[in-house]
Amino acid sequence: MENIEKKGLDTQIVHGGNVIDPTTGSLATPIYQTSTFVFNTAEEAADKFAHKDQPGAYIYTRVGNPTQEQLENKIALLEGGEEGLAFSSGMGAITTTILTLCSSGDHIVSTNSIYGSTYAFLSHHCKRFGIETTFVDGTNTENIRKAMKENTKIVYIESPSNPVLSLVDIEEAAKIAHEYGALLLIDSTFASPYSQRPIELGADIVIHSATKSINGHGDVIAGIIVGKKEILDKIRFDGIMDTTGACLSPFDAWLILRGMKTLGARMRITTSTALKVARFLEKHPKIEKVYYPGLESNPQHELAKKQMDDFGSIVSFEVKGGVEAGRQLMNNVKVCTLAVSLGDAETLIEHPASMTHKQILKEERLEAGITDGLVRLSIGLEDPEDIINDLDEALK
Ligand SMILES: Cc1ncc(COP(=O)(O)O)c(C=O)c1O
Repeated sequence: MENIEKKGLDTQIVHGGNVIDPTTGSLATPIYQTSTFVFNTAEEAADKFAHKDQPGAYIYTRVGNPTQEQLENKIALLEGGEEGLAFSSGMGAITTTILTLCSSGDHIVSTNSIYGSTYAFLSHHCKRFGIETTFVDGTNTENIRKAMKENTKIVYIESPSNPVLSLVDIEEAAKIAHEYGALLLIDSTFASPYSQRPIELGADIVIHSATKSINGHGDVIAGIIVGKKEILDKIRFDGIMDTTGACLSPFDAWLILRGMKTLGARMRITTSTALKVARFLEKHPKIEKVYYPGLESNPQHELAKKQMDDFGSIVSFEVKGGVEAGRQLMNNVKVCTLAVSLGDAETLIEHPASMTHKQILKEERLEAGITDGLVRLSIGLEDPEDIINDLDEALK
């Protein structure tokens, strides 16, 4: 479609990056389920290797494949970035990106409210390779500035963060990173490309666990990043090709392309239900605290309105009575499903302290606001009344 970047977001979601198969006219993207691509001559092979960063130079699926490429192009368009790069998981995207961009002796400033495995990677595993990370409370960007050093290569943020949905002022964080010659990386999984466009606010690389709302159907593990071609080519060829090999299978790329067609419709339903659930929980006598940036009472609501188009489908809360009360709630829900992950059609409920954020030391976890009694809800596509009644009954 011509001038697709000027069309509305839903039109971009449905049509962006699509290439009608020239041999058959197939409307659905074909699954190029192949590991390798045949060259007609040795000269053609040499030419493709010499121009492996050019579109259509397919060599081997670890470094490029037409089904992956359609997904990469679609998300790059939605995020307003030059190029996209797909991975076998969100963690594959995060680790490959950081291991490509940092070397021994480099420094990272990261906000402390981030996904548990990302925290474990930055705090423990990067250290093994001589990469040091300073964690700060990113709700005040001055903390980021204070932690910057001469050797800081990356400022890493997650906004909204998993699981307490704290926000970082993306524009401010980008300015600080750039003043010090560093790159701003943002994990925007909780927002999805539907609710937030960090590149417009100055971010250099946007990261998504495509396992979540982007795919939306709970049947794939995948990651994707968007940014400048020059940086992404380095991550593709030095990172995926020669280091981690964390490439996305063509079949999984196809499943995501299929799931993504309804991203806008799904996000509208789940974010509208999330606000209803958050408002219900806020008034409930057995609830201590609710975390949702769409609530007027949220201390970062104004920032949320400034940098997000919508507030996402994740709501976290603390039940009065701590871990035991939270455990009872999770054991008594019937519509909500007890499982990790998020962004699926089913409403999922989980306990971060014992599940998704278990890797973080207790004192560090508490510093990031993840209390023992915190419960995380990923709102699905069920009727809002059924989710609310289910929580109400279980709270009784
Ligand atoms: C915010 C965030 N980033 C990254 C990841 C890792 O993604 P994946 O599970 O696809 O490796 C997760 C997983 O839950 C997440 O919630």
